[in-house]
Amino acid sequence: MATPHNKGNVNDFAKTVLMPGDPLRAQFIANTYLQNPKLVNSVRNMLAYTGTYKGKEVTVMGSGMGMPSIGIYSYELFKFYDVDQIIRIGSCGTYQENIQLFDIIIAQGASTDSNYASQYQLPGSFSALASYDLLQKAIDASKKRKANFHVGNILSSDIFYRADGDAWKKWQEMGILGVEMESYALYCNAAYLHKKALTILTVSDSLVNHQETTAEEREKSFTEMMEIALDLI
Ligand code: HPA
Repeated sequence: MATPHNKGNVNDFAKTVLMPGDPLRAQFIANTYLQNPKLVNSVRNMLAYTGTYKGKEVTVMGSGMGMPSIGIYSYELFKFYDVDQIIRIGSCGTYQENIQLFDIIIAQGASTDSNYASQYQLPGSFSALASYDLLQKAIDASKKRKANFHVGNILSSDIFYRADGDAWKKWQEMGILGVEMESYALYCNAAYLHKKALTILTVSDSLVNHQETTAEEREKSFTEMMEIALDLI
């Protein structure tokens, strides 16, 4: 069944989907790592490819930026495409002094400044957590690769250019490892639809010391995160 955002059929999609933010990154991953990648969606250029990795079927699809975008695509994958697990691979800014550029952050949980979870009308606030199963596998894979990795709570923010430039320090105080813009919605969708999700991030910038990575450096460091994600399928 097609949706307004996805022209693929149910059997075009694997049970596991890797989701980078950038659809061209999805294309790059498909061409670099997958055998027989087949384009299964191109609506709005949100490219999705299905192929095999070490004999296992996997789909790689862009999510776009922000919770509204990943909210749509991940909901449809879980609900209408029979997908069991989504592994987001992205970048983040770190809030902590002990975390270096290119380190890997595995998001055990996501906090947020978004009201995404208000739709569930819960009598309180919702703690958005990764699948424990995927989390454990990602930690094992990271240890095996001797990656510099951190596991904990991240912030999924609706705002990249925030008026109050010091607001992040309040999250830093609470031990938040870094900031990106998608995982809270992804984890909510997984919880609501009884599916699995995990986010693995590469640190691309630091709010603490204002260091940034170049596009070329990001490409290289991305490989480690990608290979950890592929170990999970
Ligand atoms: N803020 C939000 N999202 C991000 C950042 C950031 O500093 N870096 C990478 N993704």
